[in-house]
Amino acid sequence: MGHSLGCVLLTGSTGYIASHTWLALEAAGRQVVGVDSLVNSSAVVLDRLVSLSGGQPKHFIKGDVRDAQVLDACFDLAAKQGRPITAVIHFAALKAVGESVEKPLEYFDNNIGGLISVCRAMERHGARTLVFSSSATVYGQPERLPITEDAALRATNPYGQTKLIGEELLRELERSDPRWRIGWLRYFNPVGAHPSGQIGEDPRGIPNNLMPYVAQVAVGKRTHLNVFGQDYDTPDGTGVRDYIHVCDLAEGHVAALRYLDEQQRSLTVNLGTGQGYSVVDVAQAYERASGKAIPLVYAPRRAGDVAACYADPTLAETLMGWKARRGLDDMCADSWRWQSLNPQGFEG
Ligand code: NAD
Ligand code: UFG
Repeated sequence: MGHSLGCVLLTGSTGYIASHTWLALEAAGRQVVGVDSLVNSSAVVLDRLVSLSGGQPKHFIKGDVRDAQVLDACFDLAAKQGRPITAVIHFAALKAVGESVEKPLEYFDNNIGGLISVCRAMERHGARTLVFSSSATVYGQPERLPITEDAALRATNPYGQTKLIGEELLRELERSDPRWRIGWLRYFNPVGAHPSGQIGEDPRGIPNNLMPYVAQVAVGKRTHLNVFGQDYDTPDGTGVRDYIHVCDLAEGHVAALRYLDEQQRSLTVNLGTGQGYSVVDVAQAYERASGKAIPLVYAPRRAGDVAACYADPTLAETLMGWKARRGLDDMCADSWRWQSLNPQGFEG
């Protein structure tokens, strides 16, 4: 308290997690500038954000974070408004595991090149508070459950490599100049949508992830859910994950920025609920939330999947006073509201 907080730059700002974080930051009284190339999101998100925040205009620049001029324009825009950017949350990245195996150069270029470009821009403008979107993928096949932050790190695909290398790059940056304040946030499985049903996850093509796929079955776009594997060493044989409501995750970013500003030290935390649910648990919860049947068809395991992955989320609560409040039924109800109000997504 007592110090004036600068503007926050969100890269990848019209994406799924960033759009929810934008609202959470504004609710916490922070000013925001967004930048996104729209490679995996829609500009319609901006209109929805304006109406969800009672008409408050959004400051947004369309461009690629690998372009230094684009980032300089973001810093200049905020400075012109008398509220310089003092912190960045770097969401912008490509995130499809399968595609990363097909196109490793694109993934390294975008995700590592983008991160380097953002850090350089921050140095040019004297902003050294950065929150990085990392992932539970950095734990690879976990040795112990629940997963604590001191677990061994390893990558099992090019996407995971970009997160691991990104984490390490930032460790070196912090070592080189202790003025940096960095938040390494390792997300588990973000799902759900804003309770208004106005913004949510809008995957292009066939969804890779479980909940968006289930949502499309519920709304009638797909006939059934393929359950990848039924012989895992889990209670019902299907894969277990730590699903976290995207609004809880968004609030985790607000808490992380507050920690970095107030404690003046860096932070590495899991953002999950600590609770694991199976594929069948999710399908059944979605049936309850939507009143629609989710037919299951058992299929072979998906390459690269682990049996179970869930967080020990206590460190985030101890350090930042944050913990996830919303349960699986909320995640499904909010996903369903978004999906049923927007069956064709933002462009529908
Ligand atoms: P998303 O694709 O919805 O959002 C990413 C946004 O970044 C998109 O709007 C895209 O257009 C933009 N973008 C990508 N490359 C860009 C570039 N070079 N310049 C400008 N904009 C660019 O994905 P999301 O689920 O919101 O993920 C956000 C971040 O969280 C990513 O870094 C992702 O790797 C990470 N993450 C996501 C999950 C998940 O399951 N959703 C889990 C762990 C970590
Ligand atoms: N699943 C199905 N059918 C589907 C989709 C998924 O049975 O159509 C199963 C998977 O096999 C897994 C579970 O549902 O058991 C969750 O799968 P997701 O793809 O939703 O999530 P993952 O945990 O596999 O992947 C997520 C992120 C990745 C990240 C990975 C590891 O999407 O980006 O976590 O952190 F790399």
